[in-house]
Amino acid sequence: MPTIRDIRAREILDSRGHPTIEAAVITEHSVGIASVPEGASTGKHEAKELRDKSKRYHGLGVQKAVDNIRNIIKPLLVGIDPARQREIDSLMIEKDGFKDKRRLGANAILAVSLACARAAAASEGKELYDYLSQFPQLTKRAQILPCPYFNVVNGGKHATSKINIQEFMIVPRFTSFHDNLRAGSEIYHVLKEIIHPKYGLTGVGDEGGFELPLKKTEEVLRLLRSAITKAGYSGKVDLALDCAASSFYQHKKYHLDGRIFNAEQLLQYYLQLIKKYKLISIEDPFHEDDLVHFAQLRTRSGIQIVGDDLTVTNPERIQLAINNKSCTCLLLKVNQIGTLSEALDAAKLAFDNGWKVMVSHRSGETNDSFIADLAVALGCGMIKAGAPCRGERLAKYNRLLEIEEVA
Ligand code: PGA
Ligand code: ZN
Repeated sequence: MPTIRDIRAREILDSRGHPTIEAAVITEHSVGIASVPEGASTGKHEAKELRDKSKRYHGLGVQKAVDNIRNIIKPLLVGIDPARQREIDSLMIEKDGFKDKRRLGANAILAVSLACARAAAASEGKELYDYLSQFPQLTKRAQILPCPYFNVVNGGKHATSKINIQEFMIVPRFTSFHDNLRAGSEIYHVLKEIIHPKYGLTGVGDEGGFELPLKKTEEVLRLLRSAITKAGYSGKVDLALDCAASSFYQHKKYHLDGRIFNAEQLLQYYLQLIKKYKLISIEDPFHEDDLVHFAQLRTRSGIQIVGDDLTVTNPERIQLAINNKSCTCLLLKVNQIGTLSEALDAAKLAFDNGWKVMVSHRSGETNDSFIADLAVALGCGMIKAGAPCRGERLAKYNRLLEIEEVA
């Protein structure tokens, strides 16, 4: 039986150039390395990452969290089999003592939680997705390659432009992952060819999607529709949105597209967009506590309604959304809850209640591709990891190509 001999941690930088944590769990025969991502449009109910709030890196340093791994978490876990994930996660949760993991830091806890899974998989000589498939929460699920949701235009908190909607996604509908990736990439480049002569700019936002000097949601949707047609994928690629509506909700009103909406008016607006652009999925259409309007949009639109800031990968929040019939799909982000065990509990709760699950990256990412393996093990059929552009996004998509080839 392998046991944890050592745990190392260091401060590294993420794709936005902000500090984050990389941890290594070392056993007699293996090393498991994992790093944690960081959100920009974080839900207020998420687990809390620990930041130094000192002069370094404008307060964003994670040296305290790194020290917590070295001085508190390591002594707690040395000698334990890294495959005892539930026990390891529970020990860290208990030691932290806060529901939101603010003492040790959800970033410190998650880095170790994920690195343990990697170390255990390596000691068993298994691919990570195979190893994760053995978890009790997932034993009844078949491994499948997920369909990618490519975020090709960035707005909201991920861009400096005036577009309020955070993510405009294209969703190819081919059976193989490599065909979906190819479609996503070809459309992305056609979009660039359309944008450049029009606006002169082809800069990208945090998730690799283009930043556009536009103001209205419909202008972007029209542009995407023409890129899909021009690339020859008409009828084979759908459109989806992540509104991240909490980011444009101020003083009890939604400030979108230069207009001010109440929730009912916004709902009507969404229904028009869904019909006109055949949207197949909308994430966070209302602010993060509006369970009721999420539910109304779900019944009145009939399309996939994804909970992200609303549900924050937290079983308690998900149960609330289940009771209110607010969503049909859970966005699963491991760092919103802070341990692998709890993230899998969240997925199981969603599946058991007839929801779908979409695995997700964060806007601040590293080259860690853990979520690609997680999506395959979950057999959830959907992943969003940004545009088919930028190394930290492609790390996930390229890992899926690799899994598709060997699986
Ligand atoms: P975030 O954005 O990582 O900045 O929270 C992703 C999302 O809202 O889905
Ligand atoms: Zn979101």
